[in-house]
Amino acid sequence: MRRGASLTTPRIDIDSIRGVVQEIHKQLDRAVVGYEVEKRIILASLLANGHILLEGVPGIAKTTLVKALARTLGLSEKSVVEINGVPYKGFSRIQLTPDLMPSDIVGSLVFNMTSREFEVRFGPVFAYIVLADEINRAVPRTQSALLQAMQEREVTIGGTTYPLEVRDKGKFFFVLATQNPIEQEGTYPLPEAQLDRFMVRIIMGYPKSLEEERRILELHMTRFTEPIEDIEKVVDPVWVVVTQEYIAKNVKVDSYVINYIVSLIRATRPEIFESISRYFELGSSPRASIALMRLAKALAAIRGSEAVAIEDIDTAVFYVLNHRVLPNLETVMELGGGFKVRIAVISEGLEMAKKVARGGR
Ligand SMILES: Nc1ncnc2c1ncn2[C@@H]1O[C@H](COP(=O)(O)OP(=O)(O)OP(=O)(O)O)[C@@H](O)[C@H]1O
Ligand SMILES: [Mg+2]
Repeated sequence: MRRGASLTTPRIDIDSIRGVVQEIHKQLDRAVVGYEVEKRIILASLLANGHILLEGVPGIAKTTLVKALARTLGLSEKSVVEINGVPYKGFSRIQLTPDLMPSDIVGSLVFNMTSREFEVRFGPVFAYIVLADEINRAVPRTQSALLQAMQEREVTIGGTTYPLEVRDKGKFFFVLATQNPIEQEGTYPLPEAQLDRFMVRIIMGYPKSLEEERRILELHMTRFTEPIEDIEKVVDPVWVVVTQEYIAKNVKVDSYVINYIVSLIRATRPEIFESISRYFELGSSPRASIALMRLAKALAAIRGSEAVAIEDIDTAVFYVLNHRVLPNLETVMELGGGFKVRIAVISEGLEMAKKVARGGR
């Protein structure tokens, strides 16, 4: 483990990872009711160093959840850490609109009249946690700039390249982009080919029960401020980087689990498994299988285990693959069309792929 001059590396083991994640989860519960699995997937994705696409209708606490997570790491829009002369915000929120340019995200050179020199204005991607709200409202050029920054974890401004991730200084880079699945007008859907820059796509629905709806009201009953203000910091951001590395190095994937992953992925491809063509026009790539393995490792660690189980893969499958397969449009139309049906077809196809990977058909 590396040790920066200004950095004390936390000592961790698998039990402490589970403990810290439970504590973070508990803090998130103070501001956001429900969404247990979604919270777990968000935390696993962070620990697997993968970005997230959060999809859902307005008003279901997407923004609140991301802000709450930042708070558990002591990160806010006001906190800034300077590393090698580059200022990184703890948290930044980009509201994407059609008039936003790539330079509004990445940064640009500006001319300083007093010093008569060009200076770098670092854009909002220079942050630990970036909330890119309503990504489908930005024009494709701006979307690409963000997606490229996510992929490469560095950006170039005026000919100089700056890192967005500085692992030996405990600087991670985590993007959560939100979009509304329903609205079509005035929006630019992300191209399929770029969707797989996101490790997972989480589709957030309405609260599960009357009980949850009631608890949301209770949370807001006697206050005007957001409950998020009660959230306490659990760990330093460097914990994230150290834990990511611990998981990468120490959580094992036995060969029977590897076999399950590759069989499952192959079963999503109509060219290889003909019967899946009822559900999928296009299956998943090796990039998808890597993402699946990484997320499952983080899920295992969160359970307090150093070995991935089939159940971890099963938990991860829908989140990692739902945006990386193309549903069969004929089947979708046959069943009435629309977003919900698309998702149902994808979900059924993935269930079939799981069965095939288990050896049954
Ligand atoms: N499950 C929930 N638990 C606690 N509070 C909730 C929940 N769902 C919604 N709220 C409250 O509803 C309000 C809206 O939440 P928020 O702004 O995070 O929604 P959003 O999904 O980001 O919406 P938009 O798409 O419009 O940005 C907040 O005050 C939030 O605290
Ligand atoms: Mg929001």
